[in-house]
Amino acid sequence: MEKFIIEGCHKLEGEVNISGSKNSSLPIIAASIMGEGKSILHNVPDLKDVQTMIKILNFLGAKTKFENNTLEIDPSGIYQFTAPYEFVSTMRGSICLLGPLLAKYKKARFSMPGGCVIGPRPIDLHIKGLKKLGVEIENEDGYIVGKVDKLKGNKIFLGGNFGPSVLATANILCAATLAEGETIIEFASCEPEIVDLANFLKKMGAKIYGEGSHLIKVEGVKNLKGTEYTIIPDRIEAGTYILAGYITKSRIRVNGVITNHLLALFDKLEEEGLEISYGDDYVETIPKDKWKAVEITTLPFPGFPTDLQAQMMSFLTLAEGVSLITEKVFPERFIHVGELNRLGADITLDGSKAIIKGVKSLKGAKVMASDLRASAALVLAGLAAEGITEISRIYHLDRGYEKFEHKLNALGAKIKRVKEGV
Ligand code: EPU
Repeated sequence: MEKFIIEGCHKLEGEVNISGSKNSSLPIIAASIMGEGKSILHNVPDLKDVQTMIKILNFLGAKTKFENNTLEIDPSGIYQFTAPYEFVSTMRGSICLLGPLLAKYKKARFSMPGGCVIGPRPIDLHIKGLKKLGVEIENEDGYIVGKVDKLKGNKIFLGGNFGPSVLATANILCAATLAEGETIIEFASCEPEIVDLANFLKKMGAKIYGEGSHLIKVEGVKNLKGTEYTIIPDRIEAGTYILAGYITKSRIRVNGVITNHLLALFDKLEEEGLEISYGDDYVETIPKDKWKAVEITTLPFPGFPTDLQAQMMSFLTLAEGVSLITEKVFPERFIHVGELNRLGADITLDGSKAIIKGVKSLKGAKVMASDLRASAALVLAGLAAEGITEISRIYHLDRGYEKFEHKLNALGAKIKRVKEGV
């Protein structure tokens, strides 16, 4: 295993380019198996999660080629329909293959994804939606086994206790494109990654209306063709670099962003008393020595994203006053709190709320990464902390940030990746 050694308190400067979106790439790669013929995807980030998805496709029998962020997928050789435990347990996002497999091959056998460090991760909405389209689903030895003769369009309410579900929307959307007749998905996710998936499916020949709103209408088609498509930039990666600029009190330019995807973040930064300069596709951080505490509630898009909650918490540890973060999407997603406190933060938890009392400074220490975004939060804290911060188990970061330390070091950070035990 590897760890990061971060020498804190260095100012950043210069420009960083944002990679393609991880959470767009995964469902789009999955959807490509529904095409007759090859799809070519550009701007696919070279990440552990993407590599895992490619391995699953190869296991199913697809042919893939991944070079310089372009992924070619030829699904014509697919002959297996099982996603085994070894893959699903390392990447819960693989569940987005369920809809495409059922739509194209009428059967799928999927290892039941368990919970994970960000809390319980049920799949009841995926199952409810697929059943509404006519899929029969059973549990067999830890596997969900789905089969269907003919998918039939239907009206589906896809909301759960925590609002809409991104990947359940992706699964039902994919399945509905090849169903007979019309499907209405009510309380669909509005996330930009769902819009990206819909745009890809439309290029394949699907008929989809209303993506980006809570009501999506799909008119089923007989088949879809392989196509060429470019993935959108990763808004969470962009938000992480923007916060890296502000927490180190630095002026940096973040390029290749769709700034309309980040308005909830900008709104909170402004409330904290910061200035942001941005155009349609770039952001410049305007450094300030002090910022104010705020209250934040994470919500589905266009609300403040749960995937930036941990990174924003690192930033608020150094705010003036007491901040409150309420986590409404994954109420238990606070595993980073204990580790941030090891760096000198003052955070207490009360159920799904974190109370963050601003401190004057953070001090380097040894900490452990636990999940992807929690790990990014520790890196941000380490960049701002006095002295040396050692972050172990950084493999979590490799799941979702392309060339993370290289991009940060190019901006002037001092981060070394070394083998654990060194
Ligand atoms: N939920 C249910 N039932 C379901 C599905 C979800 O109750 O059948 C609940 C979840 O437990 C949660 C809420 O609904 O409380 C929202 O979960 P959602 O299904 O939207 O999450 P997801 O689709 O599994 C994607 C991203 C996550 C991101 C969430 C929320 C991918 C591969 N993953 O997960 O990304 O946090 O949406 O925006 O797209 C990450 O990138 O670090 C990450 C965890």
